[in-house]
Amino acid sequence: MRGKRVNDASRDALGQGNALNAPKLAPSILSADFARLGDAVAAAEAGGADWVHVDVMDGHFVPNLTFGPKMVADLHRATRLPLDVHLMIERPEDWVARYVEAGAAYVTVHVEAARDAAAALAAIRKGGAKAGITLNPDTDVARILPLLDRADLVLMMSVQPGFGGQSFIASALDKVRALRAALDRIGSAAELEVDGGIKPENANAVARAGASVLVAGSAVYLDPAGVSAAIAKFRKAIA
Ligand code: DX5
Ligand code: ZN
Repeated sequence: MRGKRVNDASRDALGQGNALNAPKLAPSILSADFARLGDAVAAAEAGGADWVHVDVMDGHFVPNLTFGPKMVADLHRATRLPLDVHLMIERPEDWVARYVEAGAAYVTVHVEAARDAAAALAAIRKGGAKAGITLNPDTDVARILPLLDRADLVLMMSVQPGFGGQSFIASALDKVRALRAALDRIGSAAELEVDGGIKPENANAVARAGASVLVAGSAVYLDPAGVSAAIAKFRKAIA
């Protein structure tokens, strides 16, 4: 079953903020210990994360390799949080159904990688998951405007995809504002997610630019204070 909002409810019960317009938090397990991913998603859940962001890389679209569909299926059994699967792979249309079947709540494809992005989005929705479209920091926003009404999520990359722990590219903020305006113009309720270099220090600026979901990898999983403490820093920053 997808999309259970257990952590929204638990935060309300604890009186821990969660203002209506506060963005969701999606820790990226890319920066977690791959030998202990079950623990990593459990820690995100215990810390009150909203989603778990899963970075799928193929060694072609980006110069790194990570997870296949079996990993997503196994993680789906290990957590009640929605899995937000970010496909950094060539020909994503050949793979989206496998990730939907594996239990992804959201499957997101790169406009630069898809031969037919509209078909990929349609296939994701047909499988019963939410469809996401994403673009690299250097890609013109105009390339995804024709796809916005077919998407449940739009992901703006704020680093070059491939690795965690990079610095936020400030020019992405203007693109987030442009995407927020474009979504509002067509009356879309799609999520606007931002991914790369997000820390408690810049989270509020990203939220104010119009993001509804913040991805954070190294700032959550490499915080020496631990995952729950890191998530609490983000909640405070965006309250
Ligand atoms: C980069 C990935 C990101 C990554 C973010 O290609 O898409 O999701 O995990 O990591 P940080 O938050 O460390 O920049
Ligand atoms: Zn990502």
